[in-house]
Amino acid sequence: MSTTILAIESSCDDTSAAVVSDGLLVSNVIASQKVHEEYGGVVPELASRAHIQNIVPVVSSALANAGIDKSELNAIAFTRGPGLLGSLLVGTSFAKGLAVSLGIPTIDVNHLHGHVLAHFIREHEDDEVPEFPYMCLLVSGGNSQIVMVRGYNDMEILGQTIDDAAGEAFDKCAKVMGLPYPGGPHIDRLAAKGDASRFRFSKPHIPGLDYSFSGLKTSFLYTLRDAVKQDVSFIEKNKEDLAASLQHTIIDILLHKLDLAVRQHPVAHLAIGGGVSANSGVRNAVAEFCRQRGIRAWIPSRAYTTDNAAMVAVAGYFKYLNNEFCDLSLPPYSRVSV
Ligand code: KG4
Repeated sequence: MSTTILAIESSCDDTSAAVVSDGLLVSNVIASQKVHEEYGGVVPELASRAHIQNIVPVVSSALANAGIDKSELNAIAFTRGPGLLGSLLVGTSFAKGLAVSLGIPTIDVNHLHGHVLAHFIREHEDDEVPEFPYMCLLVSGGNSQIVMVRGYNDMEILGQTIDDAAGEAFDKCAKVMGLPYPGGPHIDRLAAKGDASRFRFSKPHIPGLDYSFSGLKTSFLYTLRDAVKQDVSFIEKNKEDLAASLQHTIIDILLHKLDLAVRQHPVAHLAIGGGVSANSGVRNAVAEFCRQRGIRAWIPSRAYTTDNAAMVAVAGYFKYLNNEFCDLSLPPYSRVSV
């Protein structure tokens, strides 16, 4: 008899449901919320309302695409946190309600564990996966962490941001340039045509393996403010070079600490995850970083970099195998460390 898990992800502005059967992904449906674009960032109340509208059709599609009936499910996994509380409440309540009605257990998943374990999303039996222990550079809109992954549920944060996340640096600087939200993909696109050596922005000097991106953001802002005083069309004329120089600086900051981390904690496998790992420059730079050091690089397919329920389903599947179920009284949480 097969083990089939439905997973629900609703931590921010994507409503997603996925089905994993015997460890293989059989469906993954994501409804992104366009409503936030005009506000230049995610509006929590609007996100919760959109989750309520999306959750039933998204779950129905995930089950239909998997070709299974809900009566065939063994458990329901859901993202418990961290994220926006209102958004998490929708997914958490829905998962619990459906599980109770079907008489099956629920499994709570830490969203960050999901990103770190995204490399275990397999569609075919012979798809390869990383070996433990591996290091993961987790870079998303809300987090920038270097994580040592010793097992499916055994992770240690070696370093993390003390202020903004890498994704926030992309998004906030893009906003200053007048680009739509989220700005990361727009910077990525523009950077491909720009000269990365044209502008210099400040880099942090903080000890250890922690990150900081707020100084870069301020220096980017001041550069643009001073330049626009001289020429109002400065940003428009230089957007490609600005994007390339910004992206280059963010990658430099990320790789500097990653280099320290692998010196202190040698590993044979290194993975990246989170929305910023969709960035072309980050992907190429990490692949080259690993090649130079004889480390095997794990670069996720772009579909599994941003928020998705497939990674929650996989993380939930490993907990299921370990008999780690959760109590129905367990509330969602907005902040947590791995
Ligand atoms: O992982 P994610 O979907 O959400 C969180 O859990 O935080 O990451 C979203 C972040 C945003 O900051 C977005 O701008 C960034 O990932 N992002 C990118 C790219 N695609 C998404 N940043 C740079 N280049 C990209 N191609």
